Amino acid sequence: MPKHTLPPLSQYITANLNKELTNIFKAKTKNLPITVEVIEDDAQNIEEVSGTDAFDMVVFEHSANDVIETILAEKTGIDTINSDWMEILPQITEIVNHEYQNGTLEQTVKTEFLHLISSCLKVLKPNGRIAINHYQFQYNLDIGLNPDWNENLLPVVRTWINEAKLGKEVIVQDFEPQWWMFLKK
Ligand SMILES: C[S@@+](CC[C@H](N)C(=O)[O-])C[C@H]1O[C@@H](n2cnc3c(N)ncnc32)[C@H](O)[C@@H]1O
Repeated sequence: MPKHTLPPLSQYITANLNKELTNIFKAKTKNLPITVEVIEDDAQNIEEVSGTDAFDMVVFEHSANDVIETILAEKTGIDTINSDWMEILPQITEIVNHEYQNGTLEQTVKTEFLHLISSCLKVLKPNGRIAINHYQFQYNLDIGLNPDWNENLLPVVRTWINEAKLGKEVIVQDFEPQWWMFLKK
């Protein structure tokens, strides 16, 4: 099979709030041999665009942290839509650390985070999966992100999701639970 032959109906649809990163993403993906679409809205509103049962997979590719950071930033009055993301990231990192060290992170972000997961479950096809991954990204540590939070983010959000009984966790062999979580409807 030629290297770039993909099923003709493959579509990659992503939600992204930050305008500058959306523009960069569009430029970088413009020559890919699949349809790429960016919904410039909060991912929790995705059902309004796609309807229910629309996607084979919803993927949080090292982005559960971004979702949590955005919830915190917006609660603190930081504009995550029109700012340079890298400029505001150190300030958001301080807020994450503060909430984590104070033990208040869960109560500050959990409701909105779970609302987003619930919205994503609605737009999954009946046999679809949500995949969430997280990994150590040196830059985050370099700017001072609490390493314990960074290492345990996935187990923490797993607890939130499973306690709320959102979907059903699927264990996939060879995907380390510390860094990966899969959910079905
Ligand atoms: C570190 S950036 C990564 C962007 C993109 N994945 C990339 O590699 O260029 C994090 C992005 O997550 C977006 N984001 C966070 N929470 C979101 C949400 N609830 N809905 C849509 N986008 C969100 C932010 O607006 C920001 O653009």
